[in-house]
Amino acid sequence: MTDHTPSPTPDSNQPAKAWSGRFSEPVSDLVKRYTASVFFDQRMATQDIRGSLAHAKMLARQGIIGANDLADIERGMHQIAGEIESGEFAWNLDDEDVHLNIEKRLTALVGDAGKRLHTGRSRNDQVATDIRLWLRDAIDQTLHLIATFQRNLLDIAEQHAATPMPGFTHLQVAQPVTFGHHLMAYYEMSRRDAERFADCRKRVNRLPLGSAALAGTSYPIDREFVAAELGFDEVCYNSLDAVSDRDFAIEFCAAAALLMTHLSRLSEELILWMSPRVGFIDLADRFCTGSSIMPQKKNPDVPELVRGKTGRTNGNLIALLTLMKGQPLAYNKDNQEDKEPLFDTADTVIDTLRIYADMITGIKVKADNMRGALSQGYATATDLADYLVKQGLPFRDAHEAVALAVRAAEVRGCDLPQFTLDELRAAMADVPGAAERVEAGISAVLTVEGSLASRNHVGGTAPDQVRAAIARAREALG
Ligand code: ARG
Repeated sequence: MTDHTPSPTPDSNQPAKAWSGRFSEPVSDLVKRYTASVFFDQRMATQDIRGSLAHAKMLARQGIIGANDLADIERGMHQIAGEIESGEFAWNLDDEDVHLNIEKRLTALVGDAGKRLHTGRSRNDQVATDIRLWLRDAIDQTLHLIATFQRNLLDIAEQHAATPMPGFTHLQVAQPVTFGHHLMAYYEMSRRDAERFADCRKRVNRLPLGSAALAGTSYPIDREFVAAELGFDEVCYNSLDAVSDRDFAIEFCAAAALLMTHLSRLSEELILWMSPRVGFIDLADRFCTGSSIMPQKKNPDVPELVRGKTGRTNGNLIALLTLMKGQPLAYNKDNQEDKEPLFDTADTVIDTLRIYADMITGIKVKADNMRGALSQGYATATDLADYLVKQGLPFRDAHEAVALAVRAAEVRGCDLPQFTLDELRAAMADVPGAAERVEAGISAVLTVEGSLASRNHVGGTAPDQVRAAIARAREALG
């Protein structure tokens, strides 16, 4: 995904455009710049060459061009690929886009065979094919990086399968959970993200080529052959649809926006946890920056930027949806605008996953602070209510009795486990039937460990369940 190229410049000594025969005056430099896409679509050069080679091979097999033409095209394309790779290739704005730039160079290198390449093809099916090939690679890279992120996440989750921290709702201390359980929530999100990308890939991996401009072509082409050459699972079955719809790119951007949204939530937590006010974690220095004025600062820039860049991926999704919604069938030049948002989203997701996979390995957990925070929010109040219910008190009465106990603890400035049995009973005295149901074993119920261990079912936070979830995840990852 590297751009090898300096910005293309208009060249007035260039020969006429590929389609200029019909026109009586040249376009202005401004129009040329406005309509050209070579600035950005040159990123698909490799895919364009691959697609052209498969097309040429098919044309030769079908007797539409000669074997010597194919040999010339292959030789020329080989040279062009080398020129692009080394940065020597002279991209030219006058040739509009990646397709015409390469075709023009091919013709300069091999003559008539270069002019025969476009037989039975249009840039409309060519560009749709190139984007799909490009996006397929981007999806494969994304899936690979998600798996790396997941493996690293599982490693810290495993280390902290039994490390207690407060679980929050409304950002208020709610109930104890383990840090491993909390991280596994993000594993589940990333698992669904991976499923979405893998599913999107199925619809990306269909071949538009052969649709030509919009109606198909009168040459005896073999689309299945081209599909197999390029690794597509099947061909697109309607030529008008194949050249015009970009729903597959929209799907990718939707899956990417969701993935970024998940990572943005995790980022928000890392930022919060790293604040000295919370102090649950520290991030490795290489992901933070200092302040030019405040010497004490260590800022979590990377998670902040991930949160910020989510705005960009969400915007790209809306851009593509809006691009599509007013277009009549079939191809319209509007579609040239699909590339920059798509490339930008793929770049953002790939860079973000790469950096995140590394960043989470550098999380330093401050387990004492997590535990300290747990003693401040009556985190085991629900456990006390559940205890009373199990002793036969109706849940609503139990809820009321525990609320009274929390109020008494607040007045005393202590936490629930610090009450003696008699103090606890006294605190609940106003709810009939509550006090006498509290027995000596209650203190075990009110401990953090007791609370965690009791949530012992699939999906619960008991350390054994967290370890089982991690084992399941490792097996799924292979
Ligand atoms: N650069 C164009 C695009 O990105 C290629 C297709 C142009 N087709 C056309 N009929 N003008 O969509």
